[in-house]
Amino acid sequence: MCGTEQDTACVSKCTFSTEATGEKRSLSSDAIINLDHGDPTMLETYWRKMGDKCTVVISGYQSLSYFANTKNICWFLEPQLEEEVKRLHRVVGNAAVDDYYMVVGTGSTQLLQAALFALSPPDGSEPVSVVSAAPYYSCYPEVTDFLRSGLYKWAGDANAFDKDGPYIEFVTSPNNPDGTIREAIVKGYGGGKLVHDLAYYWPQYTPITSCAHHDIMLFTFSKCTGHAGSRIGWALVKEKEVARRMIKFMEVSTIGVSKESQIRAAKILGVISDSCLPVPPPDSINFFKFSQNLMVQRWDELREVVGHSEIFSLPEYPQDYCLFTGKFTETHPAFAWLKCNKDIEDLGKFLKGHKVLARSGRRFGSDPKYVRVSMVSKEEEFKLFLERLLAIQAPTNGNLK
Ligand SMILES: Cc1ncc(COP(=O)(O)O)c(C=O)c1O
Repeated sequence: MCGTEQDTACVSKCTFSTEATGEKRSLSSDAIINLDHGDPTMLETYWRKMGDKCTVVISGYQSLSYFANTKNICWFLEPQLEEEVKRLHRVVGNAAVDDYYMVVGTGSTQLLQAALFALSPPDGSEPVSVVSAAPYYSCYPEVTDFLRSGLYKWAGDANAFDKDGPYIEFVTSPNNPDGTIREAIVKGYGGGKLVHDLAYYWPQYTPITSCAHHDIMLFTFSKCTGHAGSRIGWALVKEKEVARRMIKFMEVSTIGVSKESQIRAAKILGVISDSCLPVPPPDSINFFKFSQNLMVQRWDELREVVGHSEIFSLPEYPQDYCLFTGKFTETHPAFAWLKCNKDIEDLGKFLKGHKVLARSGRRFGSDPKYVRVSMVSKEEEFKLFLERLLAIQAPTNGNLK
């Protein structure tokens, strides 16, 4: 229970872990902890250890042209990036790359929009419905309806969708916010198009159980390596015509994608693949082992704190065999889908009162008794979050502390 010796032991263990990563405390003990965004700064420790391995030098005479490879239908895709993305997928075995067209985007957020454009019937009498099963990634409704497109329109929870005719379904697996492994929901009898958002289908988050080979698969550099600031995402697309329309969208919206970002991303992805070689380069540390260990450690610590509480609960995830690691593991999602079991109607508001910002379940088409909490923040923020959670006592007089 909270406030016992066991709890104190947990906090001191947490504090010890912060010291172990070499991070100095810079947040005051009453600072506001923002875990609303999934800002993946957790892996800064890994990349510091890699020293100069990822350093890229770009001279002033380079990268002048809009074009990267006029022989590729995705003419703004840097050949090194295509090569390193495909190499990493082959190393990990999480997605098929042979016979797929690769489209690079300014983050996978831009590719979500490109996919909506590419899959919408151009001559439809009304906007095509866009759905995803609740709880769904909160950006899907925002991105879909932001420009009030005449081509597509957000239609909400895929579980409740029963309209005849064409639709587009986002399938996110593992899912943001709740970490579940998902398949398409709508039984559309041929009228539906699927976009598989596989942002978290990497070994640090979940066992790799098969080599995905869907029609459109979206990945993001942000959640794979933690370099969200580079704004690189990629789509693997089976049909040439769909790829062509996505590329058209990219042309019109941003005339391609930053070459500097692509070159840096290629270098970093190469360093990851090298780290997984049977004989890795000197001073290399297996990226997926390192990042998976961190996720396991954080989830263990969070479960320990939540286990002492009568107020909160977390989803459980089944074990599965990971083809990449050769071990049975469970999912360790990038977000905790935290539920309040007491009479608190709005958990987001309640946690805000304890100086923890988390995204309300309402934003994901779900109940405000849930919040989504980032598990990929800096170590110091994560530890403070655990301390705050631990300090929230079970009711003794009907009120929560
Ligand atoms: C499921 C999912 N898809 C796509 C994205 C967008 O990633 P980015 O635009 O950083 O590539 C995110 C980011 O959080 C995500 O969680």
